[in-house]
Amino acid sequence: MDALKVTGGNRLSGGVRVSGSKNASLPILAATLLAEGRSRIYGVPRLQDVRTMIKILTALGAEIDWSGDCLTVDTSGISNCTAPYELVKQMRASVCLLGPLLARFGRAAISLPGGCVIGDRPIDMHLKGLEKLSVRFTLSGGYVRGRAARLSGSSIFLGGTYGSSVLATANVMMAACRAEGDTVIEFAACEPEIVNLADFLNRMGARIEGAGSHLVKIQGVRRLRPTEFRILPDRIEAGTYLIAGALTRGQVTVENCVPEHLFALMEKLQEAGVTVRHGLTTVEVQCRKRVRSVDIATLPYPGFPTDLQAQFMSLMVLADGTSLINENVFPERFMHAAELKRLGADIILKDGTAIVRGRKRLTGTGVMASDLRASAALVLAGLAAEGETVVSRIYHLDRGYENMETKLGALGAEVVRFSE
Ligand code: EPZ
Repeated sequence: MDALKVTGGNRLSGGVRVSGSKNASLPILAATLLAEGRSRIYGVPRLQDVRTMIKILTALGAEIDWSGDCLTVDTSGISNCTAPYELVKQMRASVCLLGPLLARFGRAAISLPGGCVIGDRPIDMHLKGLEKLSVRFTLSGGYVRGRAARLSGSSIFLGGTYGSSVLATANVMMAACRAEGDTVIEFAACEPEIVNLADFLNRMGARIEGAGSHLVKIQGVRRLRPTEFRILPDRIEAGTYLIAGALTRGQVTVENCVPEHLFALMEKLQEAGVTVRHGLTTVEVQCRKRVRSVDIATLPYPGFPTDLQAQFMSLMVLADGTSLINENVFPERFMHAAELKRLGADIILKDGTAIVRGRKRLTGTGVMASDLRASAALVLAGLAAEGETVVSRIYHLDRGYENMETKLGALGAEVVRFSE
């Protein structure tokens, strides 16, 4: 298993280009199933989760070619509608294959995704939304199987205990595209990745209005056609490198990003005393002193992203003061706290809240990654810790960050990958 050795103390400086969004790529790749033929997707990041999605599409019968910046998916030969457990268990996002398979073939079987370290990952909102479109589900043998003679449009409320659901919104939107009649989704997720998916679907011939707001209207059409499309930049990767710049008291510019997708983070970095500037496609952070503690509460977009909570905690463990970090989307998403405490952080967890008392220094040691964003948080903390930090099990990191050690190295960090 690979690990990263991070030598702390270097100030990061310079520019970094972010890759295409993982969380836009996965539903868009699933959406290629909605049309027979060859779609070309540009800007897909070379990540483990994308490779897993490609394996699943191939198992269903698609033909994939990925050369340079272009990923071609030919769905003419799809012959199977069952996503196998051994692949689905690697990536919960496989659940977003339900909608396209049901829309195109009237049947789908996905192994239940199971939980993960950031908490129980139910799919009740997916099933409820698709049932409103006339799908009938049965659960047996660890699989959820759906059938629908013909999908029919409906009005669907997609709010849950923790607000909207990104992939449930994606699933319902994809299925509704080819349903008979119109569908209205109330309390749809507003994430930029949903807007990107809607843009892709509309290029395929779908009729979707309101994506990016809580009210999405979809006019069902009989057929969709393959198309070409470019994935939007990854806002979570961009935010991760901005936090790294602040954490090391350096000056980092993230290029080719969408600044308005980062306003919640930019606001909190400024509150913490970081200088933040942005252009049309760039965001720059500059920090010359110890940051101040600030409180954050994660919320669905446009609130502070849960996917940046762990990375921001790594910034707060060295801040001047005490910060409260409220995790409202995945209340158990604090696996990184225990590992940060091994570096010397002072964190108390209580009912979905982390109380972080800033320390003046962290001391490098061995830590273990537990999930994708926790891994990023540990690498970031290692950048600011004294001495060496070894982050093990970084296969978690490889699921969502393309060449992180290379990108950090280009900014002046000392990060070496080795096999443990
Ligand atoms: C997407 O996951 C992202 N993944 C996650 O990013 C992200 O953290 C999450 O949205 C929230 O922004 C992808 O897009 C591939 P949800 P998703 O359904 O859609 C509850 C990363 O690090 N819920 O919006 O699965 C759920 O438990 C990953 O890149 C139900 O109760 O998340 C959570 O508390 C991690 N029932 C809340 O809703 C359901 O049927 C939001 O989850 C579905 C969700």
